[in-house]
Amino acid sequence: MKTIYADHAATTYPRAQEVIDAMVAYMKDIGCSPGRGGYRLSLDASRLVYETRVLLAEFFHVPQPEQVIFTPSVTYALNLVLKGLLAEGDRVLISSMEHNAVVRPLTRLADERGIRVVRLPCRPDGSLEPAEVKRALCDNTKLVVLTHASNVTGTLLPVYEVGEILRGRDVFYCIDAAQTAGTEKLDFAALNCDFLAFTGHKGLLGPPGIGGLCLSERAAEATKPLVEGGTGSKSEAEYQPPFLPDKFESGTQNVPGVAGLAAGVRLLQATGLEQVKEKKKALTAAFLAGLERIPGVAVYGTKNADTSAGVVSLNLEGLDNGTLSYILEESYGIMTRSGLHCAPLAHKTIGTFPDGTLRFSFGLTNTGDDIAAILAALQEVAKKS
Ligand code: ALA
Repeated sequence: MKTIYADHAATTYPRAQEVIDAMVAYMKDIGCSPGRGGYRLSLDASRLVYETRVLLAEFFHVPQPEQVIFTPSVTYALNLVLKGLLAEGDRVLISSMEHNAVVRPLTRLADERGIRVVRLPCRPDGSLEPAEVKRALCDNTKLVVLTHASNVTGTLLPVYEVGEILRGRDVFYCIDAAQTAGTEKLDFAALNCDFLAFTGHKGLLGPPGIGGLCLSERAAEATKPLVEGGTGSKSEAEYQPPFLPDKFESGTQNVPGVAGLAAGVRLLQATGLEQVKEKKKALTAAFLAGLERIPGVAVYGTKNADTSAGVVSLNLEGLDNGTLSYILEESYGIMTRSGLHCAPLAHKTIGTFPDGTLRFSFGLTNTGDDIAAILAALQEVAKKS
């Protein structure tokens, strides 16, 4: 049976040959640690990491490459922001579409550090009125955290507009770009943000285990590292170096991950970000249009490909979404993700908690034929259920 992968919001698959080749080339031809020796292979590894930092700084329009730090994941990057920045009595604004990567650390911080977390109400389609942020700001607001796009509905949040509202204010601003890096335009300077957290294994087409964080200078200064240790620099000091990127990068780096991420970003650049976005939009629009013709389907989110990041969540009347996901794979080879998608707060906002939804998410490797086959499968299942 031909298989169709429709879970790009979870991770990109299949991986591009260029990404696999870059990782293998590092393992075979370099294999050594960056910043840990003066011999040629260690210098080659340092160069690879530095060039990837430069590539990402250009890609996200970050002023200096050192303002891009590598992390094992976007979850790690968000934990670093929240646990490294927030102190007793601080107030944080988040949207009601946030993922557990934001909600869970904040719940702990509320318990342990007395942080006050304010959830800005999004509409039932997941969208957020920027004025909600303005209304909720007050003197002890330390941080605003927004997902750029919901991993449940794909709904895009107004991150640029909120950046304008926060301009000139003494409030830090963090954007979770897990679902949009590599699809939507992300301009660190124009966003007027302090933190931009991203992962390598979704839209950036890289491998799992590598992500990162872009930080403003004031954010880098105000944030404590989550992990301290060897950096290959200032080894005489018993304190963590205060400068970037070493302040936040201790321990031997995931260089094969960095190599794969660089190859993914170069592939995106060669394809053109606009083309990538247009392709995902066209696939989403075709899927949404086809769904209208299937009886018993309830679609969540804005139901508009222009305001969504290639994600469609739905339920089919009379069939639990976990069972539907199982049937789609067993009988039609279609891979999807059902349930709550690690984002119970978002499901509460759109009214699908606790049962969740069935999520389809599209990527560069999907085709119009995939969409037609998924629609035909859903049509057949809907007739039987
Ligand atoms: N957060 C990822 C998802 O939405 C893993 O599937």
